[in-house]
Amino acid sequence: MRLDDLPRIDFAHLPTPLEHLTALSSLLGGPNVFVKRDDATGLATGGNKTRKLEFLIGEAIERGADTVVTTGAMQSNHARQTAAAASRAGLRCVLLLENRHPIADSTYEVGGNVLLDRILGAEIIELAEGTDLFEAMDICEHQLRESGAEPYLIPIGGSNAVGALGYVDCAVELVEQSESLGVRIDHVVHATASAGTQAGLVAGFAGLESGIPVTGVSAGMPADDLSALVFDLAVKTAEIIGAPGSVTREMIVVDDDHVGPGYGLPTTEMLDAVELVARTEGLLLDPVYTGKAMAGLMAMISDERFDPDDNVVFIHTGGVAGLMAYGSVFDRPPSPS
Ligand SMILES: Cc1ncc(COP(=O)(O)O)c(C=O)c1O
Repeated sequence: MRLDDLPRIDFAHLPTPLEHLTALSSLLGGPNVFVKRDDATGLATGGNKTRKLEFLIGEAIERGADTVVTTGAMQSNHARQTAAAASRAGLRCVLLLENRHPIADSTYEVGGNVLLDRILGAEIIELAEGTDLFEAMDICEHQLRESGAEPYLIPIGGSNAVGALGYVDCAVELVEQSESLGVRIDHVVHATASAGTQAGLVAGFAGLESGIPVTGVSAGMPADDLSALVFDLAVKTAEIIGAPGSVTREMIVVDDDHVGPGYGLPTTEMLDAVELVARTEGLLLDPVYTGKAMAGLMAMISDERFDPDDNVVFIHTGGVAGLMAYGSVFDRPPSPS
């Protein structure tokens, strides 16, 4: 596979640890659950965007950009990590943040990721809910060029074929860890939203002919729509890494059973999953992505989708900064013991 000769900036803490969650595994009475600590990639509290941004910022610098522009929801983890990556690379950062109101929490517009965006020095342009984000990016690019800047546009979630290379790299890292630790990987489960993480993993595992199946648990989009996006992106990514034709539609599995009422809206099973993992493993998940993905993994385990001696890797894609803007959703009566 071809990854080494592509433009890339080295700012992630790699390899991230692969840890066996022994207490959780025995509590769930199912397979061995491992966690791939991509919440510990670095860049202003870490998360999955760090790996993508190594390649995206690498390309921005190669193209001579002086400004990066990206977009997302107000509490976007991707926006916060882009702001941090831009700071590290000495680039100006403009964030177009859509002010959706999934929850009525007084910290939603000022705390969590937004606070970090400001501390990191990003210029925040607030957009009304429902704004066409593609059009807003185009307008912003035009205005920046008019003013003499050289912008580089990063799509929502950093999810194009360049960003997805970060998760090809993660697939390679997992296969190496599996060999060095002597742990066979039977399944990978993670949160999926804008397709880049899953596309990169699928392309990477396919390029390595590892046969490791991946299930993405959707944070918002219906499975059919998201699967189509992941497939297209995985095919493009496989071409870039020199493994054309290696990705098939059957490799793309998206589970949308755990979205609940919508993107960013809490569910009881997400709250239960976040609290259970925190209280058994001292590990923090987030309410928008990894909490719902863990709820999905727990449902798969209780549906006996795995053998008891299987090794299942849950990729912790980060998001804990967002947790700090969701305090009120955890304000519920203690569960009966
Ligand atoms: C914490 C976290 N996990 C998972 C995802 C989903 O990753 P992707 O957008 O690559 O599907 C995101 C992205 O938005 C995220 O912020």
